[in-house]
Formats: sequence, structure tokens, C-alpha cells
Amino acid sequence: MITFYDLIIYPILYILPAYVANGAPVLFGGGMPLDLGKKIGGKRILGDHKTIKGLIAGICSGIIIGFVESQYLPYMLLVGIALSIGTHFGDLIGSFVKRRLGLKPGASAFLLDQYTFVVFALLFASPIGQMPDVYGIIFILIITGILHKLTNMGAHMLRLKNVSW
Ligand code: CTP
Ligand code: MG
Repeated sequence: MITFYDLIIYPILYILPAYVANGAPVLFGGGMPLDLGKKIGGKRILGDHKTIKGLIAGICSGIIIGFVESQYLPYMLLVGIALSIGTHFGDLIGSFVKRRLGLKPGASAFLLDQYTFVVFALLFASPIGQMPDVYGIIFILIITGILHKLTNMGAHMLRLKNVSW
């Protein structure tokens, strides 16, 4: 029997550090780009939107959520660390691929924008704690696409982002 907790509540609790790690740079990012302006083959390695401050703020914010959750689920501290690092690893891979395809920073790239971060977060965390079961993972993938759309529209309305995707 799949319970509401297993299908909905636990997957949300589990993935929350990744969402926060992914969203925090919109608030706390900016400044020096991680690739220091360097190019490969005439194209920026990552582009101006992937910053040192965003990376650090994102990973730290995700770890704080994992720490808070670890008061209730002890393994969530380590899972939160893995999810946060995985999130940013995936995010940087996404930008790397977008730059190789010649897309400008902030241009929309279907699947890359929505899913690279969450897939890498789950991969990085998979060896550590209790992954949600397969239905929980499917639920995470579905809500990630929806939340990505909604949070980006919200950030655009609040003028935190120039584009609504
Ligand atoms: N951000 C940051 N540092 C990071 C990641 C993100 O400062 N390491 C900030 C940037 O202001 C960025 C915003 O968070 O514009 C949203 O991130 P994201 O949507 O991942 O980047 P894009 O603007 O879409 O850039 P790209 O095309 O490189 O994915
Ligand atoms: Mg984007």
C-alpha cells in the first residue's frame, strides 16, 4: 500500500534542500562569474549567470535546510549536502551545454533548465539516505517541472529575474 506520506510528503521533504539550493542564487547570486570570463572555442565556458556567490549561497542554503530537517530525519544533513552539491553540479552542466549550443545566459532550454539540477541532485544523494520509492521519484519529477515554471514566473513578477522562465 502506498501512503500519502510516501507518495507526497516524504518526497517533498526529501527534495526540499535541492529546491532551496537551486532557488537561493536568484536572491543571493550575482558578481564574479565562476568561469572568470574564460571561453572555449570562442564561447563562454558557463556564462555570466553562474556566479561564485550564487554557487556558495545555493549550496549553503540547501545544507541549512538539510540541517533543519535532520532534527527529524537524522540522515537529511548528509542527504542535504549531497543534494545541494548535486543541484549545482547539474546546474553548471546545464549551463555548459547551453553555452556549447550557442544559447545566451537566461535563454530557455527545455528539459536542461528544469531537470538537470534535480536529476543530478538525486544521483548524488542516492548512495546516502532513504531515497523516495519510484512513485515518489515520479512525483518529484512532475512537481519539479510545475514548480520551476511557477517560481520563475513569481521571480519575474517580483523583478528578481529579467525573464519569466
Ligand atoms: N545564479 C547565480 N549563480 C549561480 C547560479 C545562479 O548567481 N551559480 C543566479 C543568476 O542571477 C541567474 C539566476 O540565479 O540568472 C537563475 O539561475 P538559472 O536559471 O540557473 O540561470 P540562467 O539565468 O538561466 O543562466 P543559464 O543560461 O546559464 O542557465
Ligand atoms: Mg534559467
